[in-house]
Amino acid sequence: MTSPTSTIYLNGAFLPKGEATVSIEDRGFMFGDGVYEVWRVLHGRLFEHGRHVARLRRGLSELRIDPPAEVDAARLAAIADRLIADNGIGDGQALLYLEITRGPAPRIHQFPPGGSRATIVMMVTPFVPLDALQTSGATAVRVPDIRWHRCDVKTVQLLPNVLAQQQAAEHGAYEAIFVRDGVITEASRSNVMGVIDGELRTHPADAHILRGVTRDVVLELARDAGLRVVERALPDGALVRVDELFLTGTGSDVTPVIRVDDLTIGTGRPGPIARDLRQRLRAHLRLDVPAVAGR
Ligand code: PDD
Repeated sequence: MTSPTSTIYLNGAFLPKGEATVSIEDRGFMFGDGVYEVWRVLHGRLFEHGRHVARLRRGLSELRIDPPAEVDAARLAAIADRLIADNGIGDGQALLYLEITRGPAPRIHQFPPGGSRATIVMMVTPFVPLDALQTSGATAVRVPDIRWHRCDVKTVQLLPNVLAQQQAAEHGAYEAIFVRDGVITEASRSNVMGVIDGELRTHPADAHILRGVTRDVVLELARDAGLRVVERALPDGALVRVDELFLTGTGSDVTPVIRVDDLTIGTGRPGPIARDLRQRLRAHLRLDVPAVAGR
């Protein structure tokens, strides 16, 4: 079946999805040896493009993958423009996915001695945010954070995230929140923030979390709004007394969490800070801001 998204960018060419294939020796396939990025596309433009490009460059550098020529803000934006046009996104919302791997080479664990040419793929897919969930609040489960100690690099090695998200899905929950050494790190595909003792708390941007673009934007909006922001991990045990808990991410904006496992968070309804920050983010995204119903 053909999906609405049919044109892909692969290694310099715009191709129908069915013709965009990579080698079975690609190190992304063999080892998960690569990075990815996901941008929100709004009004035909890439949200916070500069931050995404900076994170991509950093990830490539950490993995010592030579950046392909496309890794340049203007060139990436031009490819995105063509994908947005060719896939009929128009003024609608979409996600732009990019993946860069170390490329194809005979399978040995170390870097290919003769070097390799990175594989780059980009595609856009239409996207509809879960507004109802963001308004009513989501549920989450907790899972042990079994990931490695370089979660700051956005690698395609997402198996722990996949297993965590599957566990959430099997419990009818929206997200899986990782707990490492008794503290909340982040979630399977979003960052986690809590409101406690009048402070907005979130895990510091160290090697145990991905430094989300949305996280950074929301923290800036929070500081602008006069909130006290503290980048210190929330102990798992503090969930019983947080006033609010919410997720931030490219696909989740600000999504309040109202229950974690069997624990009701705060009043069991989205709190005022999450609602306010969601509204501020929507304004920043230039989304229409509907009147927020009082609760
Ligand atoms: N996920 N933490 C993890 C583990 C993530 O995978 C993501 C994003 C985030 C939020 O980052 P940002 O605000 O830059 O989207 C935090 C993407 C969207 C994904 O895997 O699809």
